[in-house]
Parts: sequence; structure tokens; C-alpha cells
Amino acid sequence: MTKRAVVTGAAGFIGSHLVDMLLERGYFVIGIDNLRTGSMQNLAHALKHETFQFLERDVCEKKFPAAVKEDVDVIFHLAAISSVKLSVEDPILVNDTNVHGTINALEMARKHNAKRFVYSSSAAVYGNPNTLPVTEEAPLIPLSPYAASKISAEKYSIAYGDLYGIPSTIFRYFNVFGPRQENSEYSGVISIFINRGLRNKDITIDGDGRQTRSFIYVDDVVRATLLGSQLESASNQVLNISGEDATSILDLARMVKERIPESTSSIIHRDAREGDVKDSIGSMRRTSNVLRFSPAVPFTTGLDWTISWYREYSL
Ligand code: UD1
Repeated sequence: MTKRAVVTGAAGFIGSHLVDMLLERGYFVIGIDNLRTGSMQNLAHALKHETFQFLERDVCEKKFPAAVKEDVDVIFHLAAISSVKLSVEDPILVNDTNVHGTINALEMARKHNAKRFVYSSSAAVYGNPNTLPVTEEAPLIPLSPYAASKISAEKYSIAYGDLYGIPSTIFRYFNVFGPRQENSEYSGVISIFINRGLRNKDITIDGDGRQTRSFIYVDDVVRATLLGSQLESASNQVLNISGEDATSILDLARMVKERIPESTSSIIHRDAREGDVKDSIGSMRRTSNVLRFSPAVPFTTGLDWTISWYREYSL
């Protein structure tokens, strides 16, 4: 029987890739987005499918849980404000969207008898861990309102699971990159650096650039997310989704410049960002045991593909 999936944040970067994969695998997909940062362009493929329905709704609306009329098998909750920087500037907006929005998505799951709630959390929940690669048992130490909102939403997902019998799978994504990532001052560093490089604008590093991230390509992330929703072994689990190597932001800037040889951008520095994590790389041991998954796209390959995509679509 065809499975019905809801994807919140469907017009966003990761959400739209997940929608495409679900449709390819034969799901009926209800995509929901308020189009604040998401774009209908990201859903161009999806909109060609008869098994795709789009609802322009905001997860914060009071009536959000009733936006869907029929029962669903699974809810993938990706709608969120994903920016640490914006959370430092406007913590209330971020709490409303990320915490209240998650409760509304959980209410939708309860009302429509979802058999699984998949929550896209973040590596930001670990703050600056004592040991790296960080495992899922590490203490949760929020360094920003964004991280606090993600921890809170994780806890609500777990509470709903226990109280109302909705099994959850919580993914702690590390730094996801790839085509369709928004280009704004609040988006991910790879998209910012590539777009600045292509437009001959200076590439600006926050602080000394020695902070590191483990970048993971979006196709790998959605493959793991889908697997997590399907496997019984992933029920009520918290799983890291991390790239395998740590790259410093300074090295990243150099790698981007190298790949855009015609660019006249310089690499410059400004003050470090408030609430920034220093080093971030996740242990994938539990994820590979539970999902039998490991990332397939090497970082430099993903970077090449992403630059080609921006060259084609964003200039
Ligand atoms: C990112 C994601 C967040 C996710 C987390 C998981 C975004 C916007 N943020 O947060 O949703 O939960 O990973 O680990 O996708 N930087 C610069 N110059 C710039 C932009 C950024 O030096 O122009 C630096 C930042 O100060 C930071 C690093 O690059 O040290 C990464 O920044 P960013 O891409 O915003 O990601 P995170 O804060 O790690």
C-alpha cells in the first residue's frame, strides 16, 4: 500500500531533496512550507508528480495540526530556522518556530495517527564537547538559542513518543551542504562562500578560521533520514549524521577559491561569531550499526557538484 508522508519544510534545502527521494520511492507526499526561506523552485521536480501535494502553511499557526485531513504514516519535521546567527539576533522568533512549531508537528502526528515522527535536530546540541568525534551520549550543552531550541524540540519528540505512543527517530545533522542551499547571510557557510566567490565578493571568515566542521552532502543526509523512518531498529533512537572528516573554515575558503579560479575574491577575516561552536565532528558508529549506513559522497566530490550547480542555477 502507498505510504503517506508529511514533510514540513518541504520547500527548503534538505526538505525538498527528501521530498524528491520519497516520491521516487513511491510515497504519497504532502509537503508543507511557509516559503519564508524555502522556494517553490526547489519543488519543481516534485510538482510534476501526481502523488505530491503542497500546502503553504506555517508550523506556528494554531490550526497547523489540522492542515492535513487524513491519517499519515510518517511525519518528517524539518521546518525550522536553521541559523545560529539569527537565533542570537532574534531568540524569540527562533523559539516560536523551532519549539512551538515542533509541538504543532507532534500534534499533527497525534491527530493523524502517525506511526513515526522523524525529527531533524542538530549537532549544535553538543556545544563544545570534551571528546571528538562526539557520540550521542555526550552531554547537551547549548551555546546559542538555536541549540537550546533544538534540545527542547528533541525532548518534546521523546515526551510525545512516551505519552502518546508515537515512536520517534531523532537525527542530529552535522553541517549539511549541496545544491539548493539558500544563499543569504543566515545560510550555511559553503553556500555563502561559493556564491561570494562566483560574484567576486570577498569571502569573509568569522574569527581565525581554525574552527572545524564535518560537512555532509545532502543526498547522503536524505538517504539516512529515509532509512531511519523505515527501519524498526531506528525507532526511538537518536542518531548522528556526520561527515567523516573535519575541515577548517579557512581551508574551506581556500578550497572554494581554488575551484573558482576566475574569481577575484579575497579571503578576509572579521570578529568570531557569538555562540559559535569551535570544532564539530560526529561519531557515526551508532548510525552505521542501526541503519547500516555510511556516507557515499566524498567531501571534495560534493563540493565540486555544488559549485557546478550554483554556476548553472544561481547566477
Ligand atoms: C550549521 C547549520 C545548522 C546546523 C549545524 C549543525 C546553517 C545556516 N547552519 O550551523 O542549521 O544545525 O550546522 O552542525 O546551515 N562562517 C564564516 N563566514 C561566513 C559564514 C560562516 O566564517 O560567511 C563560519 C561560522 O562562524 C562557523 C562556520 O563557518 O564557524 C559554520 O557556520 P554555518 O555554516 O553557519 O554553520 P553552523 O553554525 O555550524
